[in-house]
Amino acid sequence: CASPEVNGSWRLIGPASELSKKRCRLMYSSLGYDSDVCLFYVKGEFFAMDARCSHSGGPLCEGDIEEADGVLQVFCPWHDYDFDLRTGKSGTSLQQQVYEVKLDNGNIYVKHASPLSLQPFTADQKN
Ligand code: FES
Repeated sequence: CASPEVNGSWRLIGPASELSKKRCRLMYSSLGYDSDVCLFYVKGEFFAMDARCSHSGGPLCEGDIEEADGVLQVFCPWHDYDFDLRTGKSGTSLQQQVYEVKLDNGNIYVKHASPLSLQPFTADQKN
């Protein structure tokens, strides 16, 4: 019984030159709050991960990022659980969902099941 792969399509987020100006951006999912995704930019690399901590839903975009032994981790601001930005694994037994990111022609794309947007979706767009 294989765990279901996270399938999805490449979602255009925006130009890398803009997105790299901030350490983290919240990308809204058309599926709603629980499906929002963080786009981190750390040490020249982009990482995408579910924005709501798998522990109790803390806002990972606001977490501190530290590097230990070459592993970049974000620390949840609520209870300080760590998550590997690359794999989503935690020193606790929790696992945060991560997503593939690609750079194409100067634009950043994230592979996700739902459309993602830097602006909140209106009720209309969700239908
Ligand atoms: S909600 Fe993130 S560690 Fe508790």
